[in-house]
Amino acid sequence: MVRLGIDFGTTNTVAAIFDRGLFSVVLHQAQTRRGTIVQEIFPSAILVYPQTHQRWFGLEADRKFVEMGASSDLIFIPSLKRELRNYMEGKSLSPNSACDSKNGGAGQSDCDLDLADLFTDFLRALADSIRRSQMLDESEPLETVITWPAHSNGAQRHITRECFRRAGFRVINALNEPTASAVELADCLTGGKRNGKSEDPYAVAVFDLGGGTFDASVVRIEGHDFHVVTSGGIELLGGDDFDRILLEMFEAKLDLPSESISALTRHALLRQARAQKELISTGTVKSLFLNPQDFGLRGKTISLPVDLYRERICPLLDQAVSMLREVIQSAAAKWPGMNGGIEPLTIYLVGGSSKLPFVSEMVSGAFPGSRVILSDKPFQSVALGAAICAADRISYHEVFARHFGLIRLKDHGQTEIFDTIFPAGTPIPRRGESPLEKVVRYRPAHNIGHLRYLECTSLGPDGMPLRGVRTWSDILFPYDPNCPLSAPVSKNDIIPTNQFNHLEVSEIYRCDSDGVITVEIQNPARNESRRFEIFNE
Ligand SMILES: Nc1ncnc2c1ncn2[C@@H]1O[C@H](COP(=O)(O)OP(=O)(O)OP(=O)(O)O)[C@@H](O)[C@H]1O
Ligand SMILES: [Mg+2]
Repeated sequence: MVRLGIDFGTTNTVAAIFDRGLFSVVLHQAQTRRGTIVQEIFPSAILVYPQTHQRWFGLEADRKFVEMGASSDLIFIPSLKRELRNYMEGKSLSPNSACDSKNGGAGQSDCDLDLADLFTDFLRALADSIRRSQMLDESEPLETVITWPAHSNGAQRHITRECFRRAGFRVINALNEPTASAVELADCLTGGKRNGKSEDPYAVAVFDLGGGTFDASVVRIEGHDFHVVTSGGIELLGGDDFDRILLEMFEAKLDLPSESISALTRHALLRQARAQKELISTGTVKSLFLNPQDFGLRGKTISLPVDLYRERICPLLDQAVSMLREVIQSAAAKWPGMNGGIEPLTIYLVGGSSKLPFVSEMVSGAFPGSRVILSDKPFQSVALGAAICAADRISYHEVFARHFGLIRLKDHGQTEIFDTIFPAGTPIPRRGESPLEKVVRYRPAHNIGHLRYLECTSLGPDGMPLRGVRTWSDILFPYDPNCPLSAPVSKNDIIPTNQFNHLEVSEIYRCDSDGVITVEIQNPARNESRRFEIFNE
């Protein structure tokens, strides 16, 4: 039986395969004029040529973009996962996606491309590429464990799972990216030979700094059992931001108004910034360079000292280190004997951006007693961990990374309170287990219920959401049995009334093993109930 673990990353998508006891990373191929490229990474990139409706994905998209150059009518989406996050929030393609149109015509309107469809097509291309690797038989189903950021919300999880299914993958499970890395590390440290029982539990803090997101988790490992103690993350922090900062530093030295640089040329410049940034990890580079003439722009070669660049990105790295500290502290509060208080805490650095030497220096400096391990496979760790889970070699427990709840009105609409339904740290059920359930009962003080859902990373002293707040679409639910559920109601129709306070309304919240939450609202006067999936449509 062949099973896959897939890490859909902001910059890179990696698939690992488990086949008869062996784990390996799938190799992808692309034909170029110079020969065939074979690599473990399938770039999370899409290129669209609106004039012919052609689309390229992964390696092909990258290659074609370089080949067609910055002068054509192209739409290049280099960080699909970030775009998808924006899409879930109802935004269209971001201006950062290279989208040039000579006359502002076809290209521009095609920027309204449906990202969920594009994502599904991207995953179909990934599936084809996996099949072309010949690492599994043609008839074999694509049984897959997928991964997502620890802090991803219900909507992102829902769309990711759905698109994988639509693209032909059989999603057997899903887990958080840092959990997968902890699984990979534990497997690596023990050569896959854990005996499951005799070992004392120990903790690993995973620091995953990738292309677009930062994730931190403390995972308790006891034999084959992986239990996420705490999790957190920063949605928009990663290599893309470090590239943007370097490009801004270059642009400040370029004597050109930034509006005169087309989106595609800007994207080509970003690639140069990325390549220069990646050179820093060689340890021999003291300056970073950009020759504007290589991109058809006026001006002399620009050089920037690495130390200056380090200074500019340090505030961003500080945020990641602070988040890691928060996650470790709250794990220690929940698990007082973490590592018996004697063993140094292992901090595992994964994600391509962890290759920046400043990252390990800052983490080691911030946690002097810890054992910082730099992964030798920063890009593949998550996919390998997922493949290990796919092979059923271990079991794991995830937790809510954020508080989930809703704003309710008290005192006849005079006061707002936050009603926490699932606090951060609540264990998410494992596959095959019954959904997590919470029932809330109340007597309505209005004619229409206005349920305003949100997630947040922390609460203030007044119990209201304080940080990392992300709001969800509201649900309006008429309590009046004479008002049909299908009738269009608006917030303006809500009035305080005692007319329905003899009824006991129930809200039944359920969370499945993917972390997707639903609410079923039951009103006894109606003798009917309604179920809503809670995410942004
Ligand atoms: N040598 C290097 N030095 C610094 N950064 C690097 C190096 N090599 C790769 N990177 C950066 O790593 C990032 C990609 O890492 P990775 O593949 O782990 O991210 P991802 O999994 O695609 O993204 P995410 O996990 O954020 O969704 C890119 O921003 C890339 O520029
Ligand atoms: Mg990643």
